Amino acid sequence: MRRTWKFLVGLLVGLAALTGTADQLMQRTLRRWFERDLQLRSDLVLHGMERALSTALQLRDSQRVADLLIDITRDDRIMAAALCSRDGQIAVATPELPAELHCPAVLERIRQAAALPLRDAISLHTGRVHLTLLPFAEATQQPTVIALVHDLSFVDRRESAGRAFLLVAFFVLGAAASILALLLSRGLWRSWTDTLRRQLRSDVSEEEFQPLVSEVRALVGELSRVRDHDRQEGRWSPARLRDVLRSYVQGEQVLLLANREPYIHTRDASGQITVLHPASGLVTAVEPVMRACSGVWIAHGSGSADRETADADGRLRVPPGSKEEDRYWLRRVWLTEDEERGYYYGFANEGLWALCHLAHARPEFRGHDFEQYRHVNQRFADAVCAEAQTEDPIVLVQDYHFALAPALIRQRLPKAMIITFWHIPWPSAERFGICPWHRELLAGLLGSSIVGFHTQAHCNNFLEAVDRFLESRIDHSHNAVVRRGHTTLVRPYPISIAWPNPWAEQAPSVSACRESVRKELGLSSDALIGLGIDRIDYTKGIEERLLAAEALLEQHPELRGRFVFVQLGAPSRTVIPRYRALNESLEALAARINERFGTDRYKPIVFSRAHHEPPTVFRYYRAAEFCYVSSLHDGMNLVAKEFIAARDDEQSVLLLSQFAGAAHELTEALIVNPYDIGQASAAMHAALTMTAAAQRDRMRALRSLVAEFNVYRWAGRMLLDAARLRERERLKHRLRETSTSASAPDLPAWARFGVPL
Ligand code: F6P
Repeated sequence: MRRTWKFLVGLLVGLAALTGTADQLMQRTLRRWFERDLQLRSDLVLHGMERALSTALQLRDSQRVADLLIDITRDDRIMAAALCSRDGQIAVATPELPAELHCPAVLERIRQAAALPLRDAISLHTGRVHLTLLPFAEATQQPTVIALVHDLSFVDRRESAGRAFLLVAFFVLGAAASILALLLSRGLWRSWTDTLRRQLRSDVSEEEFQPLVSEVRALVGELSRVRDHDRQEGRWSPARLRDVLRSYVQGEQVLLLANREPYIHTRDASGQITVLHPASGLVTAVEPVMRACSGVWIAHGSGSADRETADADGRLRVPPGSKEEDRYWLRRVWLTEDEERGYYYGFANEGLWALCHLAHARPEFRGHDFEQYRHVNQRFADAVCAEAQTEDPIVLVQDYHFALAPALIRQRLPKAMIITFWHIPWPSAERFGICPWHRELLAGLLGSSIVGFHTQAHCNNFLEAVDRFLESRIDHSHNAVVRRGHTTLVRPYPISIAWPNPWAEQAPSVSACRESVRKELGLSSDALIGLGIDRIDYTKGIEERLLAAEALLEQHPELRGRFVFVQLGAPSRTVIPRYRALNESLEALAARINERFGTDRYKPIVFSRAHHEPPTVFRYYRAAEFCYVSSLHDGMNLVAKEFIAARDDEQSVLLLSQFAGAAHELTEALIVNPYDIGQASAAMHAALTMTAAAQRDRMRALRSLVAEFNVYRWAGRMLLDAARLRERERLKHRLRETSTSASAPDLPAWARFGVPL
């Protein structure tokens, strides 16, 4: 429709310009004609009177001269006449002669012009007139001049009549030409698209269409190839992911933006530098993808020895000590204390984290924190742009720390493929709206080409928020948002872990793990272990988990002395009061339960509040009778999937909160409501008493699911969608270019959405 309007406005402006020019030309020509007409008339009149006037002059008969002049003015157009001798002695004029044209004025004009005849159009206060001055009786002793004054008002009248006619003609012609051009262009466009469609379907194509048909065929072929790849049977692996990058995104540069770095260098008490693998679902998932894609990971350099292990630009090759083909660049960005407090602890964690998780923590929104969040997003966006080697890299933006970065990156790299993944839940529109900067956050995210969430429900919440708070169009059939001409796809991509899992593969045998863990904890070989592993966070439901273990011991006294619940908790965000309080209350709760059921030699709750490296974590996964993931609300939760990966003996049981995203996929787990302590303790008991065969059935099903829906698939599907989107944009662009040259009004529906995503 916009194109049609543009076309019509262009047509009308063109016609108006033409009419203006035609009007000017017409006025000029008409005037020339009228003036020539007047000259002829004047000459004719004078010739007719010449003899009579000469005689009257010779007789010095002024009355006769006056009468003859009056006779001259009987002509319709001559309004006045005068006869003036050059010496100023004779001055006869008809009564209508305007005062400005009496003999002295006439003689003054002749003196200035120097030669006769003189013809001029003059504007008087009574209107426009034409003055003709002709020499007369030059040979006599008293040379005289005849002045004839023509009324020009009839010329003005004719000019305005001509103009009115032109204007009407312009409107009629303009309307007729617009309708005709529209009908013609629509007909042309239809025949053009029909021909193109026919030629695309047949094997032969006319010469004129040959280049376009080949190009469109190639693009559509590429799209189908991408779709087929997605449907291809077989497991996703690093090699298949590399293949996708090579084949469909032409090995383009991959830049990943995440707050948390995958390797943290710290200097320990003895002065040694050690490398930590942070406890983060994001790192667990994304790190294997970066190994497969190479590229650059841009993150906050937070370790005490991070600066000394990076170059002057904060860059280093990682993973430390790995094969070259697995390596990629880590680019560390340094933050001041104030920036980290406002952006990370403040707005991201006290604000957004609390807002997005339904775990009864009040979100804190402070203006200063948001200022820092905005400022730090800009700094990271600048770092991403500085790392870009091409104008259209693939940028993978991770998580709630960078809601504003996609739009900031888009400003500087308009052709970039920006895929943003939100690792935590997205709340209802109503809840999201309580954040004072909700519109800015949404607009920032819509700078992305694709925004991904773990579940369709989170996508729906996001779309609803956009619909409610931003001026945009939601394309429900394609799950897309169109805002200011830019399209953002909104898709669910359930995140996962690497499969085969390197940590599981490196771990000792299950029996060795069982033995070492029991020894480490001072437990007998037949002790039953329930396990929980998390960052210490109020969303993880750790208190509810310990209460369920307490209820189990309460209801099953036979388990006292034999059952131990081990909680490995990595301290996290302890600068925030809510987290410090949680650490203290968990310590107190563990102590209370131990007090209640423990003895000198038996502690039912082992609460290890420390960072545990992946080899330790995997040893514990392989030593436990069950693992309980009790999140009160969680985007996905990868502890559940890691535990499954660790259990290649197909034994042990997963207890999983119904409020974790993982519960949608891992249906063979024992699904529980963590708030229902009785139900959770009953599930613990069921796990401890489950037969080996039942455990195998469940674990086998879970393992095959995680193996298939692994993190390479997660990344691959996003990249394939991105590739499809890019091809579709190119196809659309190409068709639009051609349609513009064919002066078509709008793209037809098949050209806009004909290619499925
Ligand atoms: O599951 C992923 C996640 O919860 C992220 O959202 C979060 O960034 C990360 O794990 C751990 O948090 P942090 O980076 O603050 O230590």
